Amino acid sequence: MIELETVNLEIDGPKATIFLNRPAKKNAMNPQMHKDMNEALDAIEADEAVKAVVITGNGNSFSAGMDLEECFLKPFEDPMLFYKTNLVALKWFQRLKAFPAVTIAKVNGYAFGGGFEVTGLCDLAVANESAKFGLSEINFGIFPAGGASWAAAHNLPRKQALYYILTGDTMTGREAETYGLVNKAVPADQLDAETDRLVGLIVNKNPITLRLAKEVYERTTTLDLPAAIDYDQAKLWELSRLSGNEWINVALKQFEKRAYQPGLSTYKREEVAS
Ligand code: COA
Repeated sequence: MIELETVNLEIDGPKATIFLNRPAKKNAMNPQMHKDMNEALDAIEADEAVKAVVITGNGNSFSAGMDLEECFLKPFEDPMLFYKTNLVALKWFQRLKAFPAVTIAKVNGYAFGGGFEVTGLCDLAVANESAKFGLSEINFGIFPAGGASWAAAHNLPRKQALYYILTGDTMTGREAETYGLVNKAVPADQLDAETDRLVGLIVNKNPITLRLAKEVYERTTTLDLPAAIDYDQAKLWELSRLSGNEWINVALKQFEKRAYQPGLSTYKREEVAS
């Protein structure tokens, strides 16, 4: 366990877990936490064995969002300090969205503002069914910024995104599942098991394939079909080369021997030399 000032990081083979650790402040993200998050992501990125990154909160909160006092109130009078303080946050939010390993938000409780955003930026998310999500910015006089409106728009249907942006009302984990902000909401006592199930499905895949699958998904959402096909064909050959043609030489060879059914399970990666 790597213990930073406001974040703990546990790396266990292919799984890394980041624990936001300011439980007395509901894991509000202060400037130190933004620095620590960048450091935690650095450490994970340096470890090529990590395929899945779980982000969760210690205590009864995932994250109450940006620390309203330390990030906004205190530095506000000094424009450069304000800018630099918040730039550190904006940096790791963008890093998280484009992170090479698969990211999973494990939302154990409150997820307001930046906490809502982090859930939306992760690739996958699981929530306690009674977790509470909200874009509370409107309640203190601003709109969701720093990517929070973007995260709402890209995870919720338009009417729901605007409802939560404009009213500041909260939604439960169960509602978040209905709208697609999280993959699954479960009772609190099943949150660990559901997260482990997701991680288990990810870690037996080829990490190069996972990374390129994310890239192809993200990039092709902004392309028309001919451009998307051009892009994915180029990436397919990149994948083949980087993985030593594993899909042909290992996965499809196993299929040829009827060793598994790709519709129902995955090939055996332990048979891969690397
Ligand atoms: N920024 C700074 N401090 C925060 C915080 C935030 N976003 N969220 C919670 N805290 C602090 C509280 O001020 C309190 O500090 P104190 O013990 O020094 O008084 C401590 O965390 C515990 O919070 P409290 O309000 O007593 O807990 P609660 O369980 O009754 O309520 C919330 C939890 C999350 C509903 C409430 O704290 C809240 O509304 N926070 C702000 C959420 C928000 O608007 N986030 C968007 C930021 S972009």
